[in-house]
Amino acid sequence: MLISGGGTNLQAMIDRIAAGTLDAEIAVVLSDRLGAFGLKRAQRANIPAFHVDYGTFAKSTSAEAESLVDLAGLDRRQKIIKSADPAERLTRLARLVAAEHELIRIIDSYRPDYVCLAGFMRLLTPYFISHMNAGGPRIINIHPALLPSFPGRHGYEDTFESGCKWGGVTVHFVDEGEDTGPIIAQAVYPIWPDDDIEKVRNRGLSIEYELYSQVIDWLAGGYAAIKRGPDGRPRVEITHPNYAAIVSEWVAKACRRQG
Ligand code: GAR
Repeated sequence: MLISGGGTNLQAMIDRIAAGTLDAEIAVVLSDRLGAFGLKRAQRANIPAFHVDYGTFAKSTSAEAESLVDLAGLDRRQKIIKSADPAERLTRLARLVAAEHELIRIIDSYRPDYVCLAGFMRLLTPYFISHMNAGGPRIINIHPALLPSFPGRHGYEDTFESGCKWGGVTVHFVDEGEDTGPIIAQAVYPIWPDDDIEKVRNRGLSIEYELYSQVIDWLAGGYAAIKRGPDGRPRVEITHPNYAAIVSEWVAKACRRQG
């Protein structure tokens, strides 16, 4: 699991695994922030936890990155750094690649089935994504909005400030765009007239915890089939026999939580 902050999604999974309701193992936790409380949560649960300090790679040069990847080719493919200045793009890409090389080194040493992003606030380049996805989609992200609406860093705020009457959370495979990968599962929650952003965030987070663990369970059980839509884009179909009941219960529960 890759985190940057408090790690409450990580904690929710740790708790479900400990309670025996999620049959999974968290192999390793990585954070780009040393102060991330999630690192402490991992250590408490005896999960190997590492800080990968992107700052130490700030001096990495394009020449160094070239030994790992064709940087100009990566720049043509990437969709995350939008600067019009090619030299600036290459400099930023080189630093990200160096940090991602370290992420890859650690992750690969644990040979996990999936790489789960849970509040990991760094953009990933196609270098990391294509490495991890070489054998099929393997990187999963939880996003605090009903994608494709409100991608980016402020899903709850953007939902609330837009006056939405329903918010949502999404678990999706990660592709090379920002929050654009194939959607695995979503749930919605109501936004009531007297809500504030904190109430909205808390309502959403309690769904995130259920949704993310459920998706891991479906993936582990082979209940997520990837198919091509009519437009050729990959789509995920959940084939679990209780899918409709489980999704309906998420929404019903969210509507009951009016406090
Ligand atoms: C969660 O709300 C997650 O959906 C969000 O960060 C929070 C992390 O909380 N992720 C994003 O916004 C990704 N763009 P946590 O550290 O307590 O799990």
